[in-house]
Amino acid sequence: MRILVLHGPNLNLLGTREPAVYGTHSLGDVDELVRAEARGLAVEIACEQYNGEGAMIDALHAARAKYDAVIINPGAYAHYSYAIADAIRAIGIPVVEVHLSNTAAREEFRRTSVTAAACRGYIGGFGADSYVLALRALAGEEGARRLRISPPQAIEQENQP
Ligand code: DQA
Repeated sequence: MRILVLHGPNLNLLGTREPAVYGTHSLGDVDELVRAEARGLAVEIACEQYNGEGAMIDALHAARAKYDAVIINPGAYAHYSYAIADAIRAIGIPVVEVHLSNTAAREEFRRTSVTAAACRGYIGGFGADSYVLALRALAGEEGARRLRISPPQAIEQENQP
């Protein structure tokens, strides 16, 4: 399974950006944590970060051909980007939205996510572990899908003369 981890605007400044809210881990630290978890789950991942809305949309479009799923932290775009929400709906692969902070417990404008409504699921408030939890959820669903599909195929093969 191949998963794209897509970080949005201002997440390149993690570590120095509002450490009381987002912690002291750099984006590289977050990516390393996710990579370590991915290795254990035999998932291939790539990590990308963009500040621009158009670049995020381009990355989502490109993901359709290269990845089985996307973990996205849209940053503040989550709260108002219908264009990113449309891109998530358009690509037809599962997308899980993550946030480091618990956006539901913060300022009013952060309590809405227009992009989460287009996603397979949403995880927030666990710091870098939000990404790890999303990865486990996607890998778990993929494993369950394979298990459900394999028995009928096996039976068909056994019945061949
Ligand atoms: C964030 C939450 C957003 O509201 C904020 O604009 C960010 C980070 C998070 O991961 O907690 O940039 O997405």
